[in-house]
Amino acid sequence: MKENDIKKYYNQRINQYRKHNKLYFDKSSPKISDKEYDQIKRDILDLEKQYSYLNSNLSPSNSLGFTPSKNFIKSSHRVKMLSLSNAFDLEDLKNFEKKIFNYLNKKIDIEYSVEPKIDGISASLTYKDGMLVLGTSRGDGTIGEVITKNLKTIDDIPQKINSKDFPNDIDIRGEVFIKKSDFNNLKNNFANPRNAASGSLRQKNPEQTKKIPLNFVAYTYGYFESKTIKKQSEFLRSLKKWGFKTSEHNKVLKNINDIENFHKKFEKDRFDIEYDIDGLVYKINSLELQKRLGFTANSPRWAIAHKFSADSAYSEIKDINIQVGRTGALTPVARIKPVNIGGVIVSNATLHNEDEIIRKDIRLGDTIKIERAGDVIPHVIHVDLKKRNKNSKKFIFPVNCPSCGSETIKEFNKTTNKHDAVRRCINEGFDCEKIAIERIKHFISKDAMNIDGLGKKVVENFWDLNLIRFPQDIYNLNYKKISNLEGWGDLSVSNLKYSIEKSKKVSLDKFLYAIGIRHIGIENAKLLAEYVKTIKNFSNFVNKNKLNDLLNIDGIGETQINSLKKFFNNKSNYKVIEKLSSILSISDLKLNKAGKLLNSTFMFTGKLSNMSRAEAKSLIEENSGSVVSSVNKKLNYLIIGEKPTTRKVQQAQELGIKVLSQKEWLNLLD
Ligand code: IVH
Repeated sequence: MKENDIKKYYNQRINQYRKHNKLYFDKSSPKISDKEYDQIKRDILDLEKQYSYLNSNLSPSNSLGFTPSKNFIKSSHRVKMLSLSNAFDLEDLKNFEKKIFNYLNKKIDIEYSVEPKIDGISASLTYKDGMLVLGTSRGDGTIGEVITKNLKTIDDIPQKINSKDFPNDIDIRGEVFIKKSDFNNLKNNFANPRNAASGSLRQKNPEQTKKIPLNFVAYTYGYFESKTIKKQSEFLRSLKKWGFKTSEHNKVLKNINDIENFHKKFEKDRFDIEYDIDGLVYKINSLELQKRLGFTANSPRWAIAHKFSADSAYSEIKDINIQVGRTGALTPVARIKPVNIGGVIVSNATLHNEDEIIRKDIRLGDTIKIERAGDVIPHVIHVDLKKRNKNSKKFIFPVNCPSCGSETIKEFNKTTNKHDAVRRCINEGFDCEKIAIERIKHFISKDAMNIDGLGKKVVENFWDLNLIRFPQDIYNLNYKKISNLEGWGDLSVSNLKYSIEKSKKVSLDKFLYAIGIRHIGIENAKLLAEYVKTIKNFSNFVNKNKLNDLLNIDGIGETQINSLKKFFNNKSNYKVIEKLSSILSISDLKLNKAGKLLNSTFMFTGKLSNMSRAEAKSLIEENSGSVVSSVNKKLNYLIIGEKPTTRKVQQAQELGIKVLSQKEWLNLLD
């Protein structure tokens, strides 16, 4: 990449960092996961390391946290509110100790105060002569926001302290957080309990703060001159004596191995604790040693946060439900005790299929390890057998469809000579309620008829109100009834009418995909459409029992043909296609063989603005280009949107592939 492009990419990342900082800290409503946020930060730091000419005042290397909001009066912290460096594994912990030994120039036995890292937001409380006189947020670490009134609404924060040994001038610091059970009532407004706590604490009006039950746990001090207290653990004990809440999980441990074992156990138990904890904090217990070690720019040398995995967590299975999909597949889903995985509250995990349940012997009430990484649906890694209840019984998978009661089967796969892992409802048409609903959802989806304004939830709602039973019912909706429904106004009804009307013009490939024949995905639908050319011809293949002829199409095999036969053997499917053909205007597939993008391949990374991926793909294909799904030598252009995957951009650069912004790409098309 040229220097200019690198600068452009760097600035893009800085802007994203600023935007998400604002959403996270100021608005308390992040739009990305913690992991994605950390990735942006890491990218910026990596780029700065690689290219020395990159720098910005707004880079995470030059700023801590966020700028205090204009909504509050600001106040300088007498002692900075720093952050902690992170450790993710034993190696990091050993390195942490090694650095301490190097700094002290000798190896010593270190005693640690081990404390849970409560996932809330920190606050500093200044007490003078036993009275709470000032309460601030962390702000950028140097300057915080004055939120005394809001903090005073929290029951755990004493406003007057009478203990004789309470220092006459001290900043007490700790974490403001919300319990998981209280978050439950707020989950529609906030992504996780920490954002709820932050949002509530930083309300302009303290009356609003009062409405949300906040808690406070104290763990350290800012300004404080102690003569008698020699250890962090003693300080924690004093806090309790003075009337502050401290964590009941605090303890003192001596060596890294004990710490590692404690961390492992805690990580397994944390879902059962009534508030979110995202790691453990280890602080050298001796305050004298802490003083000697001091601070680096952003964090103390004497403490480290040992984070829990941001991809996985333990939880307990409360229930197992069986979902019925569009093609009749029965998918078991575990309803679990909600757990925070890297900032996202997970309460369901897929169990994939019957075989997976048998293989992993997953049972109701089990404690399980769940993984949630990237866009992958949360799933079970393994069962913690040590925690299994003696009386637990194997899970019995239903043999009848839970939706329509029909028989279910596991198909025999001739190629693998094995039965399918997936159990399916044998219902092929619209007689099974769940299958019918899922088929209608598929019909309206982006890659199919693309009826925006008719999302999945609306389909479910319309189904419940008996407004739709078949895809064709979408074109004969009772708009009068809809406009009287809650949440529907004149504008949304007319938008809905418009997008339904617009969808009536559809190309043959999209239509063949939309009707939802098993094994006929977008690509196969395209192959079929290219071959049969018109809907009339397609009907002929079906009506004249000539579906076998379609085996001539390169890419269409027996699986697809058998699926087509099965589909059209069903009367209700046949009727639906007939009805739809009379309502819709199905155009022949027009392939532009001489478009501007002929012989060019494209790939996207990141979110495009004002355009879905499906639309962008269609645009490329209409202009004779094609879209591929991996970065390799055959790729000509990588189009980057917002939040691109850095790995893909780097791979492309290494292979000399042209990297385009969305604007540059659209310019190619005029
Ligand atoms: S000590 C200089 N102790 O973690 C030491 N922090 O990244 C600063 N936190 O901003 C803090 N539990 O919000 C400390 N037991 C604990 C903590 C804790 C949670 C948070 C705190 C801080 C962040 C550090």
